Amino acid sequence: MEFQERSIAEDYEHIVQNRRPLIIDCDTGTDDAIMLIAAAGCGVFDIRAVTSAVGNVSQENTSKNNLDIAEYLGWDVPVARGAYKTMYAGKRTLSTVHGATGLGDVTIPGAKRMQFEEERAPEVIYRIAKEEEGNLELLVTGPMTNIAIALLLYPDLKDLIKRITFMGGAMEGGNVVPHAEFNIWFDPVAANIVFTSGIPLLMIGLDVTERASLIDDDRKKFMSFNTRAGDLAANLLAFMLKREDNGLESAYMHDGLALAACADPLCVTTKKAHIRVEVLNDALSGKTYVELDPKDESKVNAQVAVDLYFHRFRVWLHEAVARIRNDVQVAAKYDLR
Ligand code: RIB
Ligand code: CA
Repeated sequence: MEFQERSIAEDYEHIVQNRRPLIIDCDTGTDDAIMLIAAAGCGVFDIRAVTSAVGNVSQENTSKNNLDIAEYLGWDVPVARGAYKTMYAGKRTLSTVHGATGLGDVTIPGAKRMQFEEERAPEVIYRIAKEEEGNLELLVTGPMTNIAIALLLYPDLKDLIKRITFMGGAMEGGNVVPHAEFNIWFDPVAANIVFTSGIPLLMIGLDVTERASLIDDDRKKFMSFNTRAGDLAANLLAFMLKREDNGLESAYMHDGLALAACADPLCVTTKKAHIRVEVLNDALSGKTYVELDPKDESKVNAQVAVDLYFHRFRVWLHEAVARIRNDVQVAAKYDLR
């Protein structure tokens, strides 16, 4: 077959024409929000829906954040509300790392035109999984409650999901507690249902996300785009950097890296693994146990990211945010002047 020399524009068009169907389930907090901006711009996915989990803040707040961000970006994506409680019966407190609303000190206009889907997250996930006939992927960047509910409601869903890429867990250590990462810790029961579902998994854990930290130069880069999307990403990052100055969590792009790894596999290197989560021993609940390259191949239930190509990721994120250049059309379309 003669190689067709394609221009960059033709390459990008080819990508857009071959977008992969994806649903994003997130507990929109600050790094989820930057991930959503990049997801809207990257052009790799046909994003069928954004669904909200309880985690960083309440489901009411994560849902509102998802809807407001979508309208603010002029992003016509269905937004559905998820569970307001997790499956875990133990004591868990909402984090304060993302501020009261989840978007730190950043405020954007409340959505006026877009509305939530009538269906709740589990129904949306199942309906679209059937429509996409096994090609649907999920990107999960919060606790896995909605996915687990969907799996318990619909026995055939596990055969309809091509892969779940999730930000969560760690091979070693934790963040919210020494032994566990927040997303898994917040609902270990749900994580266990997903980990044992048989759906192919790509785990993006703290081992790589805590090496995906942005700095003020990245905030300036986002500002340099002179776009609504770039300014929003810059303001969210500014909050995260202020938080870091106060000795709190750094500006880790936990969820942005999960998106990038889902879109561009060369952003990380992975190994086959068996992963499981501690549920019964409350003192360690939420801890993830990762056995890399198990001798017994039949135990493999995930690919786990063991390294990242930070600069590839950083450029990918910048470009994805920069791509939402159609602000004028957006403003005109939604009269967002
Ligand atoms: O542990 C990091 C994860 O917890 C990220 O997804 C962050 O948004 C919070 O949900
Ligand atoms: Ca998150």
